[in-house]
Amino acid sequence: MKFFIDTANLSDIREAYDLGVLDGVTTNPSLMAKEGISGDEKVRAHYKAICDIVDDKVSAEVISTDFEGMVKEGKELAKIDDKIVVKIPMIKDGLKALKYFSSEGIRTNCTLIFSAGQALLAAKAGASYVSPFIGRLDDISFDGMELIAQIVHIYGNYGYETEVLAASVRHSMHLLKCAEVGADVVTCPLKVITSLLNHPLTDSGLATFLADHAKAAGK
Ligand code: E4P
Repeated sequence: MKFFIDTANLSDIREAYDLGVLDGVTTNPSLMAKEGISGDEKVRAHYKAICDIVDDKVSAEVISTDFEGMVKEGKELAKIDDKIVVKIPMIKDGLKALKYFSSEGIRTNCTLIFSAGQALLAAKAGASYVSPFIGRLDDISFDGMELIAQIVHIYGNYGYETEVLAASVRHSMHLLKCAEVGADVVTCPLKVITSLLNHPLTDSGLATFLADHAKAAGK
């Protein structure tokens, strides 16, 4: 399973990359705004700075909601760096844009997926990734994980190449369940990745090893 970090924060991206387990980055307009990034030039420079940290797969989302606008904007984003994956919302014009970019060999991530039907459409349009949002479904008492499993199952039935990129991941159980049901990618904040490191028996075991070593050395 690939690990993407879900942030536009450069220091978190650097920290995740330095851990040696990072496969990519997802951003969205809210995450960019959180970092105070606005204006075309600053947005482009920020995406470039992210691309300079990681090896590949940096999702950059379009703001336009009409086909022509999404195509123009997506092409501009794709020009920033070969690592860019153009992120397109799951709307009617978005579907057309996915098809267009797929025929142009530009990678896409179809975002705001909340149903298996939407995921099926995105795969048929040739999306490279679909992003079903687990946490936001859980928030309204729908089972986000069930949606991930359903999409993985449907894509498996037909051999779609579109990768299931589980998004809106809030904690380590979301991530582990995604691994169990076979999501291709999980995108989450840094703290979810680092939380996987934690186990009290690791901490107490290490403390004992170090204490025993010190005792044997007469310290
Ligand atoms: C990433 O592609 C999504 O935009 C992101 O995971 C949404 O997460 P949130 O529901 O925590 O805002």
